Amino acid sequence: MRDLIAPHGGVLVNRMLTGALREAARERAAALPRIPLSRANLADLEMIAVGAYSPLTGFLRRDDYERVVAEMRLTSGLVWPIPVTLAVDEATARGLREGQDVVLTEGERPLALMHIDEIYPYDKEREAREVYRTTDPAHPGVARLYAQGDYLLGGDIWVFDLPRAATEEFPDLRYTPAQTRRLFAARGWKRVVAFQTRNPIHRAHEYIQKTALEIVDGLFLHPLVGETKADDIPAAVRIASYKVVLEKYYPQERVVLGVFPAAMRYAGPREAIMHALARKNYGATHFIVGRDHAGVGNYYGTYDAQKIFDEFPPEDIGIVPLRFEHAFYCRECGTVVTAKTCPHGPEAWLYLSGTEVRARLRRGEMLPPEFTRPEVSEVLRAGLQAQAATVPGK
Ligand code: ADX
Repeated sequence: MRDLIAPHGGVLVNRMLTGALREAARERAAALPRIPLSRANLADLEMIAVGAYSPLTGFLRRDDYERVVAEMRLTSGLVWPIPVTLAVDEATARGLREGQDVVLTEGERPLALMHIDEIYPYDKEREAREVYRTTDPAHPGVARLYAQGDYLLGGDIWVFDLPRAATEEFPDLRYTPAQTRRLFAARGWKRVVAFQTRNPIHRAHEYIQKTALEIVDGLFLHPLVGETKADDIPAAVRIASYKVVLEKYYPQERVVLGVFPAAMRYAGPREAIMHALARKNYGATHFIVGRDHAGVGNYYGTYDAQKIFDEFPPEDIGIVPLRFEHAFYCRECGTVVTAKTCPHGPEAWLYLSGTEVRARLRRGEMLPPEFTRPEVSEVLRAGLQAQAATVPGK
């Protein structure tokens, strides 16, 4: 374990209560005011609880919030790019006071105690502009921000039960940072590259993952399974796509597949930093940042999520970003390439947009094998058709 990369801030946070403390917290919770959490809050709670968001020990207090929005740092000076906050509406805020304990719930189910240090108003438009680089309410991250309450509760949390998703969705792949650190150490990996994704695996992903694996000891495939926008492919279908290719085309002893419980924010560059820091907490030393990482629509430049890493001294980030150019199949080269490695032009290159991919799959068509392995096309086609059958009008 000594050889593994340090977590962000030096200590792997653990906000999970166990044993007698857990029982005592549960009992206390029964008498406390209840704050119901949104799906994105629940994902944040799990991320904080297991240390994936180390050094955070709760939802941001005001000073930290202000500094994160303005400078991408916590008051401690540690880099932190996105506010992890708990918003409530004005009526709820009026019913609470600073210094009080509350219980955070998933519907009726109590999950955690929170000590409210601060209740504070915030400027949503400023947060949108700084964090998302747009105030457009059509941006899915901005839309979520605008829809939430006008006050933030800041303070530490103590978790006695994780959200249902933690036990019901991909429990076999839901390793905590402490568990992946043990896994990597047991395999003797010193250099581990992590891959974030919210999409099914396609050939360009495989190309950049394997290119990265060439220079490190292990590959940590870490698809995000928290809340995504409605037209992204469902997590279960995405994970199934990973399982079929892993079995057939990846060296088992050099790959770990786990799920990342976070919700997508679609904050592009800032989210790339957050994704990287979280993977450092899971024990990765390198992190893949390709084209338009965590982007949506045309809000970010293709390589903005790579450039943002240059704004920080590398030691402040700790994990090494591996930057990849846009990769695609070239008919002349007969393989996946980038503009950096291929001498041919766009006429030889095969591009398919996400929209086009989804349209073809919903029509029951296979994708070109140069774009997606047939095994994956099959999983996607079946998955999307099953989804269409259960969602009227889609
Ligand atoms: S993301 O929102 O999780 O970033 P996605 O699943 O599409 O979306 O991408 C996962 C990672 O692969 C990101 O680092 C992204 O930049 C990179 N990536 C995706 N497609 C390509 C591609 N064709 N060429 C290069 N990098 C890519």
